[in-house]
This record gives sequence, structure tokens and C-alpha cells, in this order.
Amino acid sequence: MLLFTKQRNRIANAVCSITPHSTLHTPHSGSSKLKRLAVFASGNGSNFEAIVEACEQGRINAEVALLVCDRAGAYVCERAARHGVETFVFNPKDYASKAGYEAEIVGLLDVRGIDLVCLAGYMRMLSGELLSVYEGRIINIHPSLLPAFKGAHAIRDSFEYGVKVYGVTVHWVDSTMDGGHIISQRAFGYDGDDMAELETRIHTVEHDLYIDTINQLIIDN
Ligand code: GRF
Repeated sequence: MLLFTKQRNRIANAVCSITPHSTLHTPHSGSSKLKRLAVFASGNGSNFEAIVEACEQGRINAEVALLVCDRAGAYVCERAARHGVETFVFNPKDYASKAGYEAEIVGLLDVRGIDLVCLAGYMRMLSGELLSVYEGRIINIHPSLLPAFKGAHAIRDSFEYGVKVYGVTVHWVDSTMDGGHIISQRAFGYDGDDMAELETRIHTVEHDLYIDTINQLIIDN
């Protein structure tokens, strides 16, 4: 269930940790009709950039208002800087508990009026306040046909298993690992023996499916 229209009254005070490349200049800035997305990522960020570009090109009626990244120096931050997307980078070790950084993230999402959170290679489970406040508005992309091959090494695991039909899943996020209700899936056959080639194909399918799914969720809501 999507709760795009849920009103939020939370006061956030956590603006100081935003890194200073924060000028937003997507072509849609200022349009009240645009949904506001936050993307969470930990590494490369190809899905992040695919979403940003789809927004910039008007293929999704939304703007990426915030990148949340738990790893300083991750390449996704460079991608965000190139597109002028505001970025919150944090180090979990700087907080006494997971609840501490999740509460700060909730404040950032609230103050920006985020409608939908898209996890894209974010290597942490969500819990506590973040999940309870935003559950129903958080989706994830996973590089397998769930429920097969959950976890952080899905491509390698499915390749080593020798499957012949690969795929990608977009699902709602809950407290389980890759276990939330499935929204969409896309499958393709691959019978080769080159994992790098397979990875490239999976990422291409991911980008298309994630964009199509986000777009459909926005249209439906
Ligand atoms: C993708 O394969 C995604 O499905 C998984 O993590 C990877 C992130 O890739 N959750 P990228 O950082 O978007 O390139």
C-alpha cells in the first residue's frame, strides 16, 4: 500500500550533516505536481543515476530530492554531485546506535516531503523508526527473481548455481531481507559462462524495470 498523500507534521533538525553540493536543478524543480523521491545507495549508483536521468528527461513525473549514502567516497556521491542532487552521507560508526542515524534520516525525509524512498544498492537493513514511519513508501530493487537468491550476492549465487532464467525484482521493503511483497519482476534467459556479461545484462534490466515500476507507482497514486 502506498501512502503518498499521508500528511507529515514532524519537525526535523538534522540539516547540518548535508554535504555542501546541494543545488537542485532538475528541469522539474518548482513543479508542485512532481513526486519527491529519495534514493538510498552504498556503492556504484548506476540505478541511482538511471532514476535521476529518467526524472530529468520527464520519463518519471518526479524529482530525486535526496541521496542517502552510508559510505563516504562511494561513486554514487560523484554521480549525485554531477546531477546536483542533494546528498546526505553518514558513517554509521559515528552514531551510538542504528536508531540514532535512522532518526536523523527520517528527519531529512520529512523535511523534504519525500513521497517515495527507493533503495538502490543500499547495503543495510531498515528498522525502527525509519521503517515504521515510511513502511509502505519504501521499495527496493534486487538482482534475482525473488524469492530465489536473496542476499548481497544474488548475481554470483545464481550464476554459480547455474540457473538458465535470470531476472530482477522490485519489492516493498519490510523488516525481512529481500522479503517484502513483490511489485514487479522481469526475467530473461542467459546460458553463457561470462559473469561480467551477465552482470551487465542484469543491470540494464534493473534500470528499465526500476524506472517503469516507479513511474507506474506514481501514476497509480
Ligand atoms: C543492484 O544490482 C541492485 O539490484 C542491488 O545492488 C546493486 C546496486 O547496483 N540491490 P548500482 O549501485 O545501482 O550500480
